[in-house]
Amino acid sequence: MNIFEALRVSHETQRALAAQLLASSPDGPERHKIFLDLKRELKAHETAEERCFYVPLFEHDSTVNASRHAIHEHHQMDEMVEDLEGQELNAPGWMAGAKKLCEKVEHHLKEEENKFFQEAGKVLTEAQKTSLAKEYEAEFLTLRTKID
Ligand SMILES: [Fe+2]
Ligand SMILES: [Fe+2]
Repeated sequence: MNIFEALRVSHETQRALAAQLLASSPDGPERHKIFLDLKRELKAHETAEERCFYVPLFEHDSTVNASRHAIHEHHQMDEMVEDLEGQELNAPGWMAGAKKLCEKVEHHLKEEENKFFQEAGKVLTEAQKTSLAKEYEAEFLTLRTKID
């Protein structure tokens, strides 16, 4: 597996959780569980991706802007999650906020997959693509168990 394939595994999980969240009913217990799962997935992925993908990309002039932009968007998504955590799940504005978060997530994943992965593919060596995948997977799994 290379780093792009490894990152896409969590991207697909994020898409599935976002779709489940938007389809969830406001009163059942499932919305809370799906939201926590999405939060955990996003946070573990963002941090592991920053350490094992964007930090190495900062070393190359052609991928500095991509790294900055992606990390800025990670921060924006963290703030959107925090904002949702501060509201009751059945509050009138909650679903509107969740929809905004899910749209942001989809925008971010598309930009990574369609733009940044291509740029990164040109600067990382084949050996790096494989070793970074291993580092990312280990980091992601460790982080995911620590987030509550
Ligand atoms: Fe990302
Ligand atoms: Fe990502």
